[in-house]
Amino acid sequence: AQWQLDPKPVAKIQPTMYGIFFEDINFAADGGIYAELVKNRSFEFDEPMMGWKEPNSDRHSLNEKSGMAKVIKEGNEPNNHFARIEVKDANGYKLINEGFRGMGLSEGANYNLSLRAKANQPGIKKINIALIAENNKAIGTATITPEGKSWEVYKASITATATVSKARMLITFEGNGEIDLDMISLFPEDTWKGREMGLRKDLVQLLDDLNPGFLRFPGGCIVEGRTLDKRYQWKKTVGDVANREMIVNRWNTEFGHRPTPDYYQSFGVGFFEYFQLAEDMGAEPLPILSCGMACQFNTGELAPLEELDPYVNDALDLIEFANADVGTKWGKVRADMGHPKPFNLKYIGVGNEQWGPQYFERLKVFIKAIKSQYPEMIIVSGTGPFPEGEQFEYAEKELKKLNAEIVDEHYYKDPEWFLDNADRYDDYDRDSYKIFAGEYAAQSVDIASPKNKNSWQCALSEAAYMTGLERNADIVYMTSYAPLFAHVDAWQWTPDLIWFDNLKSYGTPNYYVQKLFSTNSGTDLLSLTGNNQPVKGQERLYASAVMDEKSGEVIIKMVNANAAAKEISLVPKGKKFASKATQLLLKSDDLDAVNSLDTPKNVSPESSEIKIKGGTLKMTLAPNAFYVIRAKL
Ligand code: AHR
Repeated sequence: AQWQLDPKPVAKIQPTMYGIFFEDINFAADGGIYAELVKNRSFEFDEPMMGWKEPNSDRHSLNEKSGMAKVIKEGNEPNNHFARIEVKDANGYKLINEGFRGMGLSEGANYNLSLRAKANQPGIKKINIALIAENNKAIGTATITPEGKSWEVYKASITATATVSKARMLITFEGNGEIDLDMISLFPEDTWKGREMGLRKDLVQLLDDLNPGFLRFPGGCIVEGRTLDKRYQWKKTVGDVANREMIVNRWNTEFGHRPTPDYYQSFGVGFFEYFQLAEDMGAEPLPILSCGMACQFNTGELAPLEELDPYVNDALDLIEFANADVGTKWGKVRADMGHPKPFNLKYIGVGNEQWGPQYFERLKVFIKAIKSQYPEMIIVSGTGPFPEGEQFEYAEKELKKLNAEIVDEHYYKDPEWFLDNADRYDDYDRDSYKIFAGEYAAQSVDIASPKNKNSWQCALSEAAYMTGLERNADIVYMTSYAPLFAHVDAWQWTPDLIWFDNLKSYGTPNYYVQKLFSTNSGTDLLSLTGNNQPVKGQERLYASAVMDEKSGEVIIKMVNANAAAKEISLVPKGKKFASKATQLLLKSDDLDAVNSLDTPKNVSPESSEIKIKGGTLKMTLAPNAFYVIRAKL
């Protein structure tokens, strides 16, 4: 193919172009990025002893009556349950926490234990904590001496003497009596930025390495909830972690996916932590809020229009929480959590995947309220899933009536769809709203099928599609792959960008596609044509080009989606390429190739220097390969 590059910029690439979609699905937050190792630490699950075992208790054995935990509810505050442990035979009673599919512990690493305790009946002299490996050997211990009849927080540090991915926490007692326990917590000392009770470092590092332009949170369907009552309410996720009201995760059970009945939201990662994470990564925060509609794939429960105030106030108060002075009610909450400076929120999303007249009626109310108080706030609206045909036309008409600014589109399709639709945005109205391609992923089998794989074929088709997103950067302002994370033993949805177990994590081929785009996003869009047409899949070749005003380089992205090699020749109009360039190449000979915990870099980019002769880039593109070339003119 013969292509031409026009070095004159045609549009700006928005700094928000490539970002992250975070949702607590597949154990992404609890059991994932939130480094807490104890599951159901405060006995708030609907089955209050879920996650805990008492092998020798009255509950589990008819013969041995060594003691028993009873979960007690006291007061009206959130998280008002605790465990009252009655120990009748201290030699026999054991309380074990199973962690999130076990606890990952690393040899030599320190772990911070904390718990709240008070004596109900005297007699218990010591609480022994042992971290035990799969073979039941202790690989770290601590002892706490409880003092007195009022609640006290006790802390200890434990160093692990071995690396174990499915450890458990064993609690035993010295002396018989009754003791109340709550908030039994264990965190690695070494968290992201060393924050106490913080985030898992390897997982955040993978995100940070993407150099994301924005962080969208907290989802996804969990924003909506199956019912309105179980929607995500940000106000309940800030302040003291012990008082953040736990709820069952919307992904805890079947939705055509794998049931995970022990999936709850502790909100240890709440809105403050999301804002902080965005700030750490230099990404724009993009919170999405409920618009008064529960998940339409589920109950579809609606808040009547005349009862929308609490929802709208959540949006207004969130802006105050993020941006207002410490003298305001919500600005003070932020400051009290350690961030007096504003988070500089610019975008707010209203509703996740909502559609139909009910959505637009509600969106209108939000737009009016937000814009009258915060005219500079940019509102992200939605179109519902897979905007196509009549649904799309209707949504487009309504969104235009409301002067929508940025519109979130979601599509989960097969790889051929992505290859065929790289021109999706070519014909979109240039004088209307901008696009947020907020959730997309090629499905190797079917949407969210357990058989889906993060195969090279899927990743390659996404790379081809992304050249189309980039080529339309005059209207495509934000893009993100979804879902983001999945625990290998606790997922509900596939495919996912990053997989992890309790110790390790890896980026999929799709991750490396995202990374190649986001770390080579450039600042200005250039036009790249063949026969005076944009290159958009002719002969199954895809390409886009940008300029990076900081480095002065032109960055060309090219995808060959053929099983055969292809020759290309690229001439810069009125200029010449310098003789040396950098090539980043992502490819595999096997379209089914995947990465894994054991082979995390099976499909990953290789960097090399290439030579350019005579100012024209001439290359043989390998079959099924994705290239990024950085060259100077
Ligand atoms: O990404 C998984 C789910 O897909 C999201 O929660 C939802 O928005 C979409 O249906």
